[in-house]
Amino acid sequence: MIRSSITRTIALLLATGAAAQEPPPTKAVASAEPAMSTGNRFTEAGGEALYVQICAACHQAGGKGAVGAAAYPALAGDARLASASYPVTVMLYGLRGMPALGRMMSDAQVAEVVNYVRTHFDNHYGDAVAPEDVKAARP
Ligand code: HEC
Repeated sequence: MIRSSITRTIALLLATGAAAQEPPPTKAVASAEPAMSTGNRFTEAGGEALYVQICAACHQAGGKGAVGAAAYPALAGDARLASASYPVTVMLYGLRGMPALGRMMSDAQVAEVVNYVRTHFDNHYGDAVAPEDVKAARP
């Protein structure tokens, strides 16, 4: 369990590093082809599937967090999730050990997984994030 989490974590970090090294697309390129390789994209749909497949590798099932080789904060009962823009910003810009995973997701996927963690694990924040909010917050 811990070993598979670590393997997934390393794979994700490598994927994130690879994405970060891609040169920013110019406007001309962006209109001709997708801005980012589809191979670097997460394909899961729905907040729960995204959480289970991606976030739980570090934040663990139920959002309870973990302390081991690194500290993964609990998302369960996390008062910092009260402001919807906070998790959106963390997803899009990263936060120290937290990779900017939202850059490999669509606006809808970021909204879904943020809405999922804000309404599960003892979090009860009803003001849902819309894909448009994510789009507006992107770098
Ligand atoms: C590679 C491991 C890793 C993965 C995968 C990961 N996180 Fe994180 N996350 C972290 C670490 C480490 C931090 C703590 C960053 C810090 O404060 O230094 C963090 C912090 C956060 C925070 C801020 C929590 C707070 O109270 O400040 C949020 C929100 C968050 N992650 C959401 C997510 C979501 C949603 C996903 C899945 C899409 C996810 N994370 C996947 C490692 C990860």
